[in-house]
Amino acid sequence: PAGASAGPVVVLVGPPGSGKSTVAELLSAKLGAVHRDTDTDVETGAGKPISDIFVDSGEPVFRELERAAIVAALKADGVVLSLGGGAILDADTRADLAGHTVVFLDVSIGEAAKRVGLGVARPLLLGNVRTQLKNLMDARRPLYAEVAKHTVTTDGRSPEEIAREIVEHL
Ligand code: S3P
Repeated sequence: PAGASAGPVVVLVGPPGSGKSTVAELLSAKLGAVHRDTDTDVETGAGKPISDIFVDSGEPVFRELERAAIVAALKADGVVLSLGGGAILDADTRADLAGHTVVFLDVSIGEAAKRVGLGVARPLLLGNVRTQLKNLMDARRPLYAEVAKHTVTTDGRSPEEIAREIVEHL
């Protein structure tokens, strides 16, 4: 049907540390597609890093910019699209993702904490990050699952392996 193949080839969702950006890069190379990332689009539009947007304007403003970036990116044909980890908190975004090929990159708290770049040398910080990731995952897992057509386990697997599995789903 007309329009059925419009928009991104695949949309990657998952929490921080699930490997969305790394896998999206590999996947876009494999598919000869452009990688588009809504965090990057928001930063480009705002002219500053996301961390500065949070500090200067607060999370609600970031979420509005993110929402607008998602609406625009979902119209881009043929791209590999990765979304920020909190994108699925928005009900309109979840509704817009219906009909797209959405892949949820699932990850354990321990592995995600490692990937966000904190070593075991800072047990206190690591503990806080793990607690935050756990709270975030408890709240969001049902939402990732709701929008996902496929869920790919990423623990103990290379980005290459993960990208190959995703290609099989397309
Ligand atoms: C967020 C995840 C970030 C970024 C922002 C908020 C979240 O993206 O969008 O800091 O709420 O989980 P990554 O998932 O790429 O880290």
